[in-house]
Amino acid sequence: MRAIMTEILQADPAGVTRAAELLREGKLVAFGTETVYGLGADATDADAVAAIFVAKGRPRFNPLICHYPSAEAAFRDVAADARAQAVARAFWPGPLTLILPRRPGCPVALLTGAGLDTLGVRVPDHPVAAMLLRQAGRPVAAPSANRSGHVSPTSAAHVLDGLDGRIDAVLDSGPCAVGVESTVLDLSGSQPVLLRPGGVTLEALEACLGPVQRGAPIGDEALRSPGLLASHYAPDLPVRLDAVSVAEDEALLAFGPPPPGARCVFQLSESGSTAEAAARLFEGLRWLDAEGARLGAVRIAAMPIPDTGLGAAIEDRLRRAAAPRGQIGGE
Ligand code: TXA
Ligand code: MG
Repeated sequence: MRAIMTEILQADPAGVTRAAELLREGKLVAFGTETVYGLGADATDADAVAAIFVAKGRPRFNPLICHYPSAEAAFRDVAADARAQAVARAFWPGPLTLILPRRPGCPVALLTGAGLDTLGVRVPDHPVAAMLLRQAGRPVAAPSANRSGHVSPTSAAHVLDGLDGRIDAVLDSGPCAVGVESTVLDLSGSQPVLLRPGGVTLEALEACLGPVQRGAPIGDEALRSPGLLASHYAPDLPVRLDAVSVAEDEALLAFGPPPPGARCVFQLSESGSTAEAAARLFEGLRWLDAEGARLGAVRIAAMPIPDTGLGAAIEDRLRRAAAPRGQIGGE
């Protein structure tokens, strides 16, 4: 990718205002939280979120956490039941991420949640982050601000080690107090499930909620447990990969000029940009499911995607969608 000038912003009112302005323009801004530095982008802007994956060099689309200045703001986007309200009261602001169902009309881009019907939300306990989120005025998607496969950064210098020239700015709010990532708690089902241990202990959660199951996290490369993928969005229609032609009973996921004869087409990127295609991928799969079914299609034919930029992550996702159902290894 082309090198960009990474602005180093101080944690003063001018720095925070500049960082918020960049986020609103769809730019990438790393910022400190109490846990680790996050690589932030406007969570409602699919292109900005795709740029996070480009900058991190992520080989696949893991769901990202959305950051909010308050529980009230978070619970406008996800549905919070009594359990969620209780843990939010006890631990927010703080190092706890809650997985909850998206509300209808939730403005967060599908790519942010990797196509899932749930969203990870968190209110960080850091005065500078809170000011930034308030000024940004929208949910901010932020994975840890490191290159994929590297350790999470706990200072602005760590961020620059990995991402200088790849992101628009880093807001330097000093070292992170907690230093490990947030605890991820899935409250989208009937049983609370711990997906990732972190800054809030299991004991503290159980004191508040009662028994919490231990689960394997989605997207943790080290823990490939079968079945996890079931919770990722899989299209209802089967998927045929590397399609260079399209049959009459197929809906087409196009990348560049489509082959002749396609009746139901979702164009990922006319110009062949893998970043644009990533931003539109989950929207496209859902649209083809609905439109394809309406037009009597029995399959989605997916055109080949080049292996450059986010192409590998898109192909990874499509291969999973195309694998025989029930035999897909977890992520
Ligand atoms: O402390 C933290 O959580 C930091 C700071 C920046 O907030 N962020 C962070 O993000 O660690 P990341 O992307 O490195 O880790 C997010 C974790 C992943 O394990 C991901 O799979 C899980 O949260 N996650 C996010 N949304 C999810 C969802 N809808 N369902 C299941 N897991 C989800
Ligand atoms: Mg991480």
